[in-house]
Amino acid sequence: MPRLDPHSYNDSTQPETETLDWKARVDFRTRRLHAEVTLTLKEASAGPLDLDTRELDIRAVVDGQGKPLPFTLSPPEPILGSRLRVELPPGLRQLTVRYRTSPQASALQWLTPPQTAGGQHPFLFSQCQAIHARSVIPLQDTPRIRIRYKAALTLPKALKAVMAAGFVRREEPGVEAVEHYEMPQPIPPYLLAFAVGSLACKDLGPRSRVWAEPELLEEAAAEFEDVDAMLRVAESLFGPYEWERFDLLTMPPSFPYGGMENPRLTFLTPTLLAGDKSLVNVVAHELAHSWTGNLVTNASAEHFWLNESFTVFAERRILEALAGKEEAALHAAIGRRSLETALEHFRAHPQLTVLRTHLAGIDPDDVFSQIPYEKGYLMLCAMEGVVGREAFDVYLRKYIDTFRFQALTTEDWVAFTERELPGVLAKVNAEAYLHQPGVPDSAPTPRSGRLEELQRLKGTVPSAEAVKGWTPTEWQLFLEWMPADTSRDMIRALDERFRFTQSHNSEVLVSWLVAALRAHYAPALERAESFLGEVGRMKYLKPLYSALHSTQEYRAKARELFQRYAERYHPIARQGLENILSRA
Ligand code: BES
Ligand code: ZN
Repeated sequence: MPRLDPHSYNDSTQPETETLDWKARVDFRTRRLHAEVTLTLKEASAGPLDLDTRELDIRAVVDGQGKPLPFTLSPPEPILGSRLRVELPPGLRQLTVRYRTSPQASALQWLTPPQTAGGQHPFLFSQCQAIHARSVIPLQDTPRIRIRYKAALTLPKALKAVMAAGFVRREEPGVEAVEHYEMPQPIPPYLLAFAVGSLACKDLGPRSRVWAEPELLEEAAAEFEDVDAMLRVAESLFGPYEWERFDLLTMPPSFPYGGMENPRLTFLTPTLLAGDKSLVNVVAHELAHSWTGNLVTNASAEHFWLNESFTVFAERRILEALAGKEEAALHAAIGRRSLETALEHFRAHPQLTVLRTHLAGIDPDDVFSQIPYEKGYLMLCAMEGVVGREAFDVYLRKYIDTFRFQALTTEDWVAFTERELPGVLAKVNAEAYLHQPGVPDSAPTPRSGRLEELQRLKGTVPSAEAVKGWTPTEWQLFLEWMPADTSRDMIRALDERFRFTQSHNSEVLVSWLVAALRAHYAPALERAESFLGEVGRMKYLKPLYSALHSTQEYRAKARELFQRYAERYHPIARQGLENILSRA
């Protein structure tokens, strides 16, 4: 019974799904999807077929003629969910499961009208990575198995459905609307995505448009207007864009991530709307996933670093091409800082600081960190340093070409790299990055003029003159580098001069609040209290709640705020924060 992915019931000796045909009616009243899915297998088959499910209410399983098929639903396991085992009679290639989702489905967040920008309509969205697709559709929820799909969503007429797929048509047969989508390129299940709400769009270029609630549309269009140029730069670096369109969806503030690379329709947190395009590196990151992640995919969460570190590397190459080497170096330095914080966080669990992880019995969401992003990035930079940019670019292209529309393991990657760049893995001590905790001393450090300038001002209250022309990235790094024991007087002096507590740049604001909370600076507490109620992005919630929770004086406050706001957060974020707040 070979189970190759520790986070899926998929049995690799059983037939694989080729396509899905999904029909779902969105019921905002009961917070359920009433759905059926038809799975077509790669070949006609017989015997048991194991599917992943989580909290699904399975009504029936039938064959192509509507004849019931025997099935068993195993009791739920905390991380995996419930195994749905269907007994296939000989020669069966298609089966249909009728079911409904739970109001607590881990992938879904149902928002009430007051939780949206417009305040008039409800909103629903999905977040399937890492292993939440199974709470929406019973399927083989492992990135090893790619599927094509068709979908039809039934929804209230006042609303619009968008999917990470190609739009086919909208019908309004009765009191409700039906929207049809089709995904012709095969995707791993974690890239299945949709949203339903009051949504409008604006074209940004021949291949891109931005979607948002009408109230936010102009702001979003202005922030992301350069996306077409970004797309062309990315193609010049990594080869043709294979997904036809690169649309953007500005999410409600409770979206738990900065961005999610859903193919054809990247989901973005509204905290990117800084008004000055200063946070578009997140767009570059999600775009880069179109090659590294969506074309070339990690075989399981144990090889997640393959998705993210290649994408961070690609993101910074795009950034370098658009904004210059200095800006890219600043981002690398911020990344290095976040890596140190993550290593510190996992001090008691060094085995979780390796790139190639072993996660049987571990929920990927619980161990999500910057380590696979930034430690892997350092290794790739080290490799580039050894062979030179030109050779490394050739290698990158070949990597993408070789594994496009496939999933690979770290071991596959090592074998490929040994073949293409013989000896390089040994030269950079890849063994240490992949299998040993911490960061090798030989890891490259970003260098640049602006970084040196910042180094000089570290830990001071700089004059207005000294910081003239600083970008938000420089400010963020300045704040990240502030010593942990910075006095409250110094914090106050900084705030009086630079007004950080009022910053409209969410990265700058959160870096500031964390530093200022450490110094028990009262205005920071007040701002943190309101901010935690406005935003559901985990990258911000976690450090802020941690900062509060780790301070004796603020611990009760952290609990109180979480109780007040938990309803607003996505189920994944809620779970993550419960972990933090239950720490001793
Ligand atoms: N795919 C990730 C988000 C993710 C990872 C969701 C794991 C669920 C499980 C996305 O591409 C990402 O990395 N987002 C970052 C952007 C940043 C690195 C520029 C984020 O959300 O902060
Ligand atoms: Zn990513």
